[in-house]
Parts: sequence; C-alpha cells; structure tokens
Amino acid sequence: MSLSVQPRLVTLEGGEGAGKSTVLAVLREALLAAGQEVVCTREPGGTPLAEQIRNLLLDTRHEPPAPETELLLMFAGRAQHVRELILPALRRGAWVISDRFTDASYAYQGAARGGDAGFIAGLEQRVVGIVPGLTLLLDVPVGIGLQRARGRGGVDRIEAESDDFFERVRAAYLARAAAEPSRFRVVDARQPAEVVAAEAVAHLRAHQETVR
Ligand SMILES: Nc1ncnc2c1ncn2[C@@H]1O[C@H](COP(=O)(O)OP(=O)(O)OP(=O)(O)O)[C@@H](O)[C@H]1O
Ligand SMILES: [Mg+2]
Repeated sequence: MSLSVQPRLVTLEGGEGAGKSTVLAVLREALLAAGQEVVCTREPGGTPLAEQIRNLLLDTRHEPPAPETELLLMFAGRAQHVRELILPALRRGAWVISDRFTDASYAYQGAARGGDAGFIAGLEQRVVGIVPGLTLLLDVPVGIGLQRARGRGGVDRIEAESDDFFERVRAAYLARAAAEPSRFRVVDARQPAEVVAAEAVAHLRAHQETVR
C-alpha cells in the first residue's frame, strides 16, 4: 500500500496553544464562503469510537500509557477516523480540515516520546494510507503556546509534559516542514490572531487554485 495524496484534506499542526482551533474556524468560513462543503474534525478523535480512544489517551486518572501503547492507540483512532469520516467525506467531494493528523505522531510519539520514525512510517503506510494536500504548521515558541493553552484552564496528560518535550515537538514539526516544502506552509503564530488567520486563508486559497 502506498500513500495517496488527498488534495482536499487540509491539516493544521503545531504545539499546544499555537492557534490551531482558532485557524480551523476561519478556514471553515473561507471554504463555506466559496460554496464548498467542508467537514471539520480533530485528532485524536473525530468519530465516536476515536473520541473514546482520545479520552483514554488524555485521561490522567489511570496509569500513563507506555509509549508503545500511546503510539498504537493514536493510530487505532486514526484508522477509524480515516475510514469512517475522512475518506467518505473526500469521496463525495467535500473538503476536510483536521486539527492534527499523522504529522503529530511523528512529532509527539516519534521525536518527543522516542518512538521509531521507521515504525511510524510503516503505520502511516499500512494503517492511514493518505497524506494531506496542504498542511499548515502554526509555529510558536513553546513558552508562548503553553501560556495560551494553559490560560484556557484544565491540563490534560500531554499538556502536562515538560518544556523539553514540547521543544522536541516543535523542532520535529519544523524539520518535517523543511523536508516537505510542497505540502507544508509554516505560519509564524506569534503574530496577532488576525494576521495568522489571514496568512492561513491566503495559503488555503493558493492551494485551492491547484485543486480542480
Ligand atoms: N495568534 C494569536 N495570538 C494570541 N492569542 C491567540 C492567537 N491564536 C489563538 N490565540 C488564543 O490562544 C488560545 C489557544 O488558541 P487555540 O485554542 O486556537 O490553540 P490550539 O492550537 O487549538 O491549542 P490546543 O493545542 O490546546 O488545542 C485561545 O485562547 C486563543 O484565543
Ligand atoms: Mg485546539
């Protein structure tokens, strides 16, 4: 099985508090205004079963999952998300915007948690099978992002990780963006929300021009 690029699948990536959810809402409006059907979703999660897996992953009441457990649960949820929600939407011609996707596993379960990138690539090939046409990486210094995210109150299991962990996440995302410049657009998410949103919409519009 090889990876198939899905032009109408757009993903948002970035660390905690980078502004992914904020930008997602703006991209949704831009696509709706252009008369497109758009499905917004998130990972981990996106279907009822995958949201249950999300709860398992983020809960702090049970013992922390082993890194291997975390990785496989992430991909278990993603398998369900792709088959039940993303592919059906893409097949009927809708745009799908996902708040995080496979890149997040390379950054979190791979670079930050120490998971083997080759193993993750194998899971991507065999379990996911699709790659977004456009990935917006919202890049923000770790301290600023955490301050924003924690300002919302309530810290889940992953948000409670160390600054070092999030520095590895950030570096891994930037490295992935540099390695795949045709898919990634990096937005400086330190800028005011309106500026970030405008840049994100401009990248989406430019990408739309390339999609029939
Ligand atoms: N560019 C920005 N400048 C300042 N504040 C922002 C900016 N973008 C978003 N915010 C605010 O920062 C907080 C986090 O933003 P948001 O929830 O969109 O981030 P996120 O990447 O989805 O975070 P998480 O990873 O926790 O889901 C929100 O309160 C939001 O209003
Ligand atoms: Mg969010």
